[in-house]
Amino acid sequence: MQQADPYNQYFAKKVMVSYAKSMDKTKSSFKCSNCTYTTIKWIGCCPECKEWDSLVENIITATSNATKMYTHTHAAQLRSLDSIDTQELPRVLSGIGEWDRVVGGGLVPGSLIVITGDPGIGKSTLLLQVAYEIAKTKRVFYFSTEESLQQLKGRATRLKTTDNNLLFSDAAELTSIITAAREQKPDLLVIDSIQNCYINNANTLPGSVGQLREAAFQLMRLSKEYNITVIITGHITKEGIIAGPKTLEHMVDAVFYLQGEDRWQTRMLRAVKNRFGAINELGFFCMEQNGLQEVPNINAHLISEISHAPGSAIVSIMEGSRPILLELQALTNASKLTMPQRVVSGLDHKQVVLIAAILEKYVKIKLSMQDIFFKVSGGFKIKGSESDLGTAFALLSSYFQEPLPEKSIALGEISLTGQIKPINNIGHLIKEAEKFGITTLLVAKNQTIEKTSCTVKRFHNVYELLSLFGQ
Ligand code: TYD
Ligand code: MG
Repeated sequence: MQQADPYNQYFAKKVMVSYAKSMDKTKSSFKCSNCTYTTIKWIGCCPECKEWDSLVENIITATSNATKMYTHTHAAQLRSLDSIDTQELPRVLSGIGEWDRVVGGGLVPGSLIVITGDPGIGKSTLLLQVAYEIAKTKRVFYFSTEESLQQLKGRATRLKTTDNNLLFSDAAELTSIITAAREQKPDLLVIDSIQNCYINNANTLPGSVGQLREAAFQLMRLSKEYNITVIITGHITKEGIIAGPKTLEHMVDAVFYLQGEDRWQTRMLRAVKNRFGAINELGFFCMEQNGLQEVPNINAHLISEISHAPGSAIVSIMEGSRPILLELQALTNASKLTMPQRVVSGLDHKQVVLIAAILEKYVKIKLSMQDIFFKVSGGFKIKGSESDLGTAFALLSSYFQEPLPEKSIALGEISLTGQIKPINNIGHLIKEAEKFGITTLLVAKNQTIEKTSCTVKRFHNVYELLSLFGQ
């Protein structure tokens, strides 16, 4: 083997370094932090996603690989899975059952969580209550970046959540918040809200999308390095996304939406992303004089409102691990318009139009000449097609102005060919329905039902649905 010549090696190194220096030019580009659109000039509004002030400068140093060869960085360490300690810290329970269940059975130490929702929906109220309960056994810091400490005290007195273990601050500069957390290592850090935080000496503008991402990134590192659970609140825009970047959702461990329904002052806490629990899990609360109170039995609430009238059909859908009873309400009226109206809320508009088209085709009723108004009770939103049979019954019941059998529930899907299809997990739904006094099940012909005390009416296709309306 040829011996390496030390002089030649030295010379080659010198040449490479001088070459690398000549290559060391800087270029910059601007990248949208909301949608990744890139341009070479800064512009105020991203032409792609129309977000304002979201372009962040990206400096590309054209340093050749040759220079990188001589920079000393620590090599990344690699480990086998066997050598990794998986002993998990226990989850932190607040004792507020609906909260604990939605977050996946208590908060996971070292996780970063976002709570979002419309202004005034109750995010601060809920977090203050949760923080107070957790502070009974853990150290909790609450940074209120929106409300003054006087306002906060007023609220805490109203909620009777004043506890000396729960510490508050109105600091809004993120570095000082993080420094306090690093030094004093609380178990839970609440920041209400992240949009009102700012970072001194950052390259990004306060309140900009870039700064929001930077803040989330720093908090993520804090939570992971110090095993601190961090909960931040964020506003949502009119379109229903977390103000600024949707990307915030990708960066954090869990996102929960607090949504409201004004009818009963109920609030729904919905998990839309959860690395440590089931998504689509729902928690229910009621806004009262002394804060948000749990509603563990939401179906009792829902069923008490249901009327036995033409146009009404009861369905049941799984929300997370819990079956929910809902009333579908339809109103069909002969239309005076050339294009009859279809006004739908709580359900995909196309789903109602589709069921109406199937009924028109196979049952021969002229729904295309009717205005259709359709809604789901309680402000719920139904996805999927589990409520197809209920939708068909509600439409037919309004059309014929005849109510469905009293205390009946419709559980089935409908195919494009007009066949009634069975649904999965029906056992759960039936059990819950029976608990609330349902006595008749309206299901598909081939639906398997293990055990029930209800009368079961089976339907093969949509034409057979007419048998309930004396047609
Ligand atoms: P808040 O928690 O400030 O909402 P967010 O942080 O999401 O903006 O909730 C404010 C609303 O809640 C306000 O309209 C008053 C009402 N509220 C009650 O009805 N009862 C209470 O005990 C509290 C504290 C607030
Ligand atoms: Mg608030």
